[in-house]
Amino acid sequence: ASSFYEYYLNWAGPARRAYASGLALQLPPGYARAENVVVCGMGGSGAAGDYLAALSAAYGGLPVYVVKSAEPPRWCRGSLVYAVSFSGNTRETLNCASRAYRLGANVVAVTTGGRLAAWARRVGVPVAVVEEAPAPRAGWPQLFYTMLGSLKAAGLIQVPSSHVEESIQLLGDREKAEAEARELVEWLLGSSGRLVILAPEPYYPVAVRMRSELAENAKLAADTGQVPEIGHNMIEAWAAGGDARVLVLDPGEEPWSTLLHQVVGLARPASVHVVKLRGGNMVSRMVWGTWLAGLASVLYALRKGIDPERIRTIKAFRSVVE
Ligand code: F6R
Repeated sequence: ASSFYEYYLNWAGPARRAYASGLALQLPPGYARAENVVVCGMGGSGAAGDYLAALSAAYGGLPVYVVKSAEPPRWCRGSLVYAVSFSGNTRETLNCASRAYRLGANVVAVTTGGRLAAWARRVGVPVAVVEEAPAPRAGWPQLFYTMLGSLKAAGLIQVPSSHVEESIQLLGDREKAEAEARELVEWLLGSSGRLVILAPEPYYPVAVRMRSELAENAKLAADTGQVPEIGHNMIEAWAAGGDARVLVLDPGEEPWSTLLHQVVGLARPASVHVVKLRGGNMVSRMVWGTWLAGLASVLYALRKGIDPERIRTIKAFRSVVE
């Protein structure tokens, strides 16, 4: 297996270190008085914000608003703003950070370095330095656990420590993760039709992450759907088209498992594969699904002779924006 794959397989290490460093992050006292959180970041970096928004909605905490552009919300004065960029050199995120700063937000930079770290140091904004990874998408644990730890330390999110600990523990179960990733890859290789990744609303960020991992690593296109919403629109087209193959992310909790079952039953896709999101709590289940997405997308690429690390077109886009 490639070292890229090995990196994903060994997520437990970076996850544990990132969580510890997030907990230890010293934010200026005024930051904890924020009434909401804004996460600005693109691609693999912004994805971590989607998870925090879902977790804060489910467990309680400050509302989390995610921005995937260069424009922070006009109301961000006093907000706690995480400007997240793995490389530190993403144009949209750099602009979003400096605009939020000018609007009076409490900005924190989360990055491996680059221009974002340099800017933050110049204007005197805290920097959470995260560990390097072979690619931003492979560094998801760094970004997610650093922000989660710092929100917890500031008392701004009500996710219990035991749930976070369990999620990191779960990343130690490499054998099970590999076996399930392989099963998923077999299904992807053996089925055909338009791929749709389905998840219940609170877990929707995992479906989106799976879509992006398959796009970037495997160069495989997929749509996503969230339940119950798609039962009110997309389901009509799927049932009529009959060519969809559906990947179901099932957290094994009610009412979600039943609803997923009902939606799939009505849409009658050509083929269905269920990925069980393992773990005894929401954080663990989200992390498990994210891990499988990474592993399966890289394995799929390797099986097809595709280079998972090469993202030529994204690079081309980045140079157009820069
Ligand atoms: C993921 C990836 C992209 C980047 C995005 C933003 O591996 O390559 O999705 O995450 O282009 O770049 P960063 O994360 O460096 O701000």
